[in-house]
Parts: sequence; structure tokens; C-alpha cells
Amino acid sequence: MNRFMTLMMAIAAAVAIVSCAPREPEALLWLPGGDPAVEAEIIVDPALDLHEDGFMIKDTPQGRQILAKTDIGAMYGKYALQRMERTGQASGVLDVREEPSYDRRILNHWDNLDNTVERGYAGWSIWHWGEPVPVRLIEEYSRLNASIGINGSVLNNVNASPEILRRDYLERVAQIADIMRPYGIHVYLSVNFSSPAALGGLPTSDPFDTEVQQWWKEKVSEIYSLIPDFGGFLVKANSEGLPGPQDFGRTHADGANMLADALAPHDGIVMWRAFVYSPKSSDRANQAVEEFEPLDGQFRDNVIIQIKNGPVDFQPREPFSPLFGRMSKTALMPELQITQEYLGFSNHLVYLMPLFKECLESDTYCIGEGSTVAAITTGSVYPDAYKTTAIAGVANIGRDANWCGHEFAQSSWYGFGRMAWDTGLSAEDIALEWLQQTFTSETEFTEPVLDMMMSSREAAVDYMMPLGFHHIFAWGHHYGPEPWCEIEGARPDWLPKYYHKADTLGVGFDRTRGGSGNVDQYHEPLASIYNSIETCPEDLLLWFHHVPWTHTMSSGRTLWDEICFRYDRGVKTARSYLSVWDEMKPYVDAERWEAVRSKLEIQESDARWWRDACVQYFGEFSGMPVPAYVEQPERPLNELKAIKLDMKHHN
Ligand code: GCU
Repeated sequence: MNRFMTLMMAIAAAVAIVSCAPREPEALLWLPGGDPAVEAEIIVDPALDLHEDGFMIKDTPQGRQILAKTDIGAMYGKYALQRMERTGQASGVLDVREEPSYDRRILNHWDNLDNTVERGYAGWSIWHWGEPVPVRLIEEYSRLNASIGINGSVLNNVNASPEILRRDYLERVAQIADIMRPYGIHVYLSVNFSSPAALGGLPTSDPFDTEVQQWWKEKVSEIYSLIPDFGGFLVKANSEGLPGPQDFGRTHADGANMLADALAPHDGIVMWRAFVYSPKSSDRANQAVEEFEPLDGQFRDNVIIQIKNGPVDFQPREPFSPLFGRMSKTALMPELQITQEYLGFSNHLVYLMPLFKECLESDTYCIGEGSTVAAITTGSVYPDAYKTTAIAGVANIGRDANWCGHEFAQSSWYGFGRMAWDTGLSAEDIALEWLQQTFTSETEFTEPVLDMMMSSREAAVDYMMPLGFHHIFAWGHHYGPEPWCEIEGARPDWLPKYYHKADTLGVGFDRTRGGSGNVDQYHEPLASIYNSIETCPEDLLLWFHHVPWTHTMSSGRTLWDEICFRYDRGVKTARSYLSVWDEMKPYVDAERWEAVRSKLEIQESDARWWRDACVQYFGEFSGMPVPAYVEQPERPLNELKAIKLDMKHHN
């Protein structure tokens, strides 16, 4: 079954709602219960020269003060002070001024109206569609988000059902918005571009049709009559079977602008995704630039193009999307994936801040050195193009008692919020403050566990897709390996062989000037650096080059030996986490310790599965043996090929 059929079935099944009693929210995360208990005088002064969410914390002769322009800014100040107190940073004389890096710090929930979540990787939807609104759960969700600065929530899947715009659903969305409002969180919705036809009964959804335009205007007015501070729409159009303006011979700009015009009178925005597929292009990684760069300057000023961190799809490692460096007259926002679709779901401990920071700190060189993805998307490179700035994270929040399915998956939710607030924070600093607030400040605990978190993303890259391998996942879920996968009739760019291109000579996707030319979507000096096998960073080698098996790597090993070495290193690192965690027993309550221990066992076993599958499969092409100095595969390839997982849920 292809993704389009899956989507259509999900939409058709919107009535078959999954039901279970709302659980009581669990207090035990990074935050103590109740309002932030800080001793400070709160001064809200609209005349202050501050971002409306900003705050200052000052020690004055009159005592400690939190100053803000708005009540929401003061709330952020209280949470910040509480965090500083709990992590030992509030002693001495304080003189703090904080303003968020991004105006809009948004979670994208990929939740369906039948309470499933896209591909199951966040469990079941916390919105409990079709059941009484879980007020306490949503309050607790809002409090947790407010404490880390998140101020927006897109409630439903980008693969949006038109039904979300039905009156009864909108009334429920309004109830949710009412619960979130005191915490400064605005609600947004994903919309289906063919809603005027599918829901409104019009003969078309053509954005140039006046009846269609009117339908959207009226729908938007209806939404604002229910939710006066509604944030706007998120749109996935002409991608993976979803409808869009191209169905009517119009462009992405035509489609986005029609929605933008309907939202503008209410100050709403359109987040229009650049995750598109162009059937014409020979390289999936080229497609977003090919489709969007020619439209630069054509979008309304309340449209933001939402771009995934990499050009393909949330892989364990990708270069940054070149589109970030190619639009100077259009507002752009990064989309990061907090949920671990491609990183072991909620079974693997993979702290994602190193991945997120790697993207934000990437230099696009679009106006010379220093034009990083963060600088562009926070509006400092092309300020005229940015009426507002934003960043999105695909949420990993579901109904599990620990919210995310893995105790440590909370750290990526926490980290996303903190980094969206302040892109200057380091991945280490964020991990440490999360550990201190979630577990303990004892350094016997925080030091080894911090090391484990900080190495975890690189370990996952090693045991899944080292050296620039990408998209060699199993069909139907993105959990295990299936580099051999073939599905009759499937789009080539959904199949692993399209991406690894292994043959007897070598492996990897030739994106050089002699290949797909993708390197030239990057500005110099990157284009030339990536183009040459000698200068291309080894972590991205097989992303940009088809490399001979005997190529000598910087370690002195051949490419083949290096592949085996890296897979093996990943397994060994994952295994080392078990012994680290065993030592941590005295510092963690038994329930959480056990829960993490059992997940680490799964992770270590999955790492071996990945290694055994990949080194044996690629070994059939290289014709070379797994070097004796690494562990030999345990399970034969035919046994691994027979594994068919039914991963409809993240753990
Ligand atoms: C990936 C993912 C899909 C999702 C899509 C998107 O392809 O596997 O489930 O719908 O990304 O971001 O729209």
C-alpha cells in the first residue's frame, strides 16, 4: 500500500475514533507542579523596550524584580527564574535580559482525527478527539510548553483531513485554545487544500476561483469568531498525494497567497511547506529549490515557507537544505523533527539537540561567511523579508504516562523549546539543565549521563546510516533496515536503492557536477567543497559521492572497512549505555530506571540488527569480508530479510 492510499484510508477512517480514558497528567517531568514559585516583584510595563515575550530579571535595592512588557513575558521570566534557582544559577546579583530568537516557537502535532498519530511515532493523540476534552492534560501540556517558551501548537497532521474545518471540530479546537491561552500558546491548524470542494461542496478548489476565495474567507472568519487569537494555517500541498494549487495549473505562491489573503485581516499567517516532490527531477534532494527558488518575492508577507532541516526527509544525518540559502525576499522557517521517526522511534535514546544545532549553525554563505540557517530564519540576514519569524518542531508527545514513550525523549521536546527561545544555547547546556531538573544535580549522575546523551545522535548515525548513507529504512515504517527493499510500482525516490546506489564498484549518490548537480544548489565555497571527494566531509561522503569500495579514508581504512568499523562502533557505543545506566541505579527511582534500562536493551539489539543487515547486504556488492577487528555479524542476511514489523505504535 502506498502512502497516498494510507492517507486516504486514514481520512476515511476519521470516524473510527480510538477511545480510551484520558490519563491523569504526570507531574514528574522537568517541572514542579503549580505556578512557578519564585520570590520576585513582577512589573509589567507595556512601555518597556522589549520583545513582547521578553523579560528582565534584576536585583535592585528594592529586591529581585521581573520586568516584562506583557503578562506572558512576565510568565516566561518566572519560569526562567525558577529554572535558574533549580539549576544553581540564581545566586549572586542577577541582571538578565532575554528576548526570544524566534517570534513563533511552534509544535507541529501530526495527530489524526481518529486519534492515531502519523506512522504511530508519538503514540495516541493527546487531544482525545471525539471524547470529552481532557482539560487537565491540556493544561499540563500548556504549562510544560510555557516553561520552555513554546507559544504555538498546530493540532493536527500535515496530512490534513478536510473535516478539521467542520464546525463541530472547530468548536472543539476553540475549547482547546481557551485552555492554552493563559499560557501564551496560540492554536494553528493544518488544512487540506481541497477543503472547498471536499468539505464545502464547491466544484473546484482552484485558488483563482472567486467562490473558492470566498469560501476560505468565510471559513477563516468563522474560525476567528471562535478563536480570536488563532495563529494561522500550516499547509502541505502537492506532496505525497496531497492536493495543492498545481492540480489547477497554479503555483505554490498562488495557493499560499489565497490563504494568506483570507488570514491577513485577522493577523493570521500561512506556513507553507517546502516538502514537495517534483516528478520531473532526477534527484529528490534538488526538488525544493527547483520549485521554490523561482517563486522568491511572489509570496505575501504573512506567508512563511516551512523547510525541513535537510533536503530529503529528517534522516539521521543530512546536509542542511540548500533552500535556506536561496530565498532572499521570502520569510523561511526551519522544521525539525522532535519525534524520532527515523531515529529508532521512542525505543532509542537519541538526544536530538546536536542534530538541530548542526542545522541551525550550518553556514549557507548566501551573503558570505556567517549567514547561518539560524541567522537567516531569525531574520537577521534579510530583515525586510521577515514580518515575523518562526521555527517548528514535529512533536513527540502522546498519551504515554511519560508523555513521549521514552524518559529521555522528553529531553528533545524540552531542548527544542529552549533552543527556539535562544539559538545560542549549547546542546550540552540544555541537556545538563534538563538532567538537573528531571533527575538530580549530583555530578556522579549528570556527568556520565550527559556524555551518553551528547554521543547518542552520533551513535545512531553510526549504527544506522554512517558516512552519508540515507533512507535505507524498511518500507511501511521507518524503524528498521531494509536497504534491499523493492516494491513493485513504488516511486523510485521512496526506495532505498535510489539513495544508496550500491554496485560492484562502490556506493553512494553522485550529487556532484558530474552527477545530479545538487552541490551547485549550495553557495561557494560549499559547492566546491562538497563537489570534490577529497574535500567533502566524510560524514556526508555517500550523500554527495558514489565512492569506490577501495577509496582510502582519512583513517587509512578503505571505504568498505570504514563502513564496517562505523557500524560496529555504533553497536559498541549503544552497548556502553547499558553499563553507564547500570551505574546510575542509586540516583533514579526504580520505575524510571527500569523503563530506561529496558529501552536501552532494545536499542543495543536494534543496533546489532542494523549492523548485521547493512554490512552483509553491502558486502554482497563490495565482495569484501567484514574486517576481523570488528565484531562479525550474528544473524544471517536471509533471516534479517524475513523480518516484517508491524510498527503502528512507537513502542
Ligand atoms: C515523511 C513521513 C510522512 C510524513 C511526511 C511529511 O515522508 O514519512 O509520514 O507525512 O514526511 O513530512 O509530510
